[in-house]
Amino acid sequence: MLELRGVSISFGGLKAVDGVDMDVAEGEIAGLIGPNGAGKTTVFNLITGLYAPNEGAITFRGRVIHGQPPHRITELGIARTFQNIRLFGTASALENVMMARHCRTRSGSLAAIFFTRAFRDEEAQTRARALELLDFVGLADVQGVRAADLPYGLQRRLEIARALATEPQLLLLDEPAAGMNETESEGLMQLIRRIRDELGKTVLLIDHDMRVVMGLCDRITVLNFGRRLAHGRPEEVRSNPDVIEAYLGRE
Ligand SMILES: Nc1ncnc2c1ncn2[C@@H]1O[C@H](COP(=O)(O)OP(=O)(O)OP(=O)(O)O)[C@@H](O)[C@H]1O
Ligand SMILES: [Mg+2]
Repeated sequence: MLELRGVSISFGGLKAVDGVDMDVAEGEIAGLIGPNGAGKTTVFNLITGLYAPNEGAITFRGRVIHGQPPHRITELGIARTFQNIRLFGTASALENVMMARHCRTRSGSLAAIFFTRAFRDEEAQTRARALELLDFVGLADVQGVRAADLPYGLQRRLEIARALATEPQLLLLDEPAAGMNETESEGLMQLIRRIRDELGKTVLLIDHDMRVVMGLCDRITVLNFGRRLAHGRPEEVRSNPDVIEAYLGRE
C-alpha cells in the first residue's frame, strides 16, 4: 500500500532521514520505532507532504505522492495524528471532528453564507458522521465539552477521531500512547485494533511504549540516526542485537 524507497531529507548539515526503505501492506498494523531523534516523525512529515524528500520515492497504492501538498495527500487517503496534540482548544469535541471533515465536503463558503439547501444537507451529514466517529472512539458523552477541557487521554482519542473524519485508508499515529497510564494505553490498543478490524483501516504507528508496539504491530521498522536499522516481525526485531544496542547505547 505504501512504499518508501531510498528516502532522504537533510536539514542544514543533518541527514534526518537517510536512504530509508519501508513498506506498509494493506490491512496491517505496522510500527516505526527508534531512539529519540532517529527520524520517525520526519518520516511521517515526508509521507504526509509537509516535507519533500531530497532523494528517493514515496508511493501510495502505486501512485507517486512525494512532492504533493498535504491537502492532496489527505484527499488520496492518508491521515495522521501529531506527537504534540493539535486540537482547536476552545471548540467542542464535536466541532473539532466536524472541522476535520472539511476535506470531504463540497459546499463552498458562498453556499455557507447563503445557507443553501445543499449546504444544510451536507452540514447535517457532517454532523451525523462526526457523532458516529465520536461514538466509535468512546467520546459520545463529551461531544459538547471544549477540547481543552478534556483529560489528556481523551484528547488523544479526539485527535484520532479527527484523523478518521477525513476517511483515510491509511492512518498514521505519532506516539498515540505518550503520557498515558497503563489502563489508558490498554484501552488505546483496543481502539487501534478496532480501527483495523472494524473500520478496515491500515495503521502505521510510532511509539516508545514497547508493550504497545510489540503487542499491536504485525511488522516493525527500526530507525537509528535516520537510517533503517532493522525490520521484521516483533519477535525478530526484539531479539536483533543491533536494535538492542541502539536502545541500550542511548539510555
Ligand atoms: N524542520 C526541521 N529542521 C531542522 N531539524 C529538524 C527538523 N525536523 C526534524 N529535525 C531534526 O531531525 C532529527 C529527527 O527528528 P524527528 O523529530 O524525526 O525524530 P523522532 O524520531 O521523531 O524523535 P522523537 O522520538 O524524539 O519524537 C532530529 O535531530 C531533529 O532535530
Ligand atoms: Mg517524533
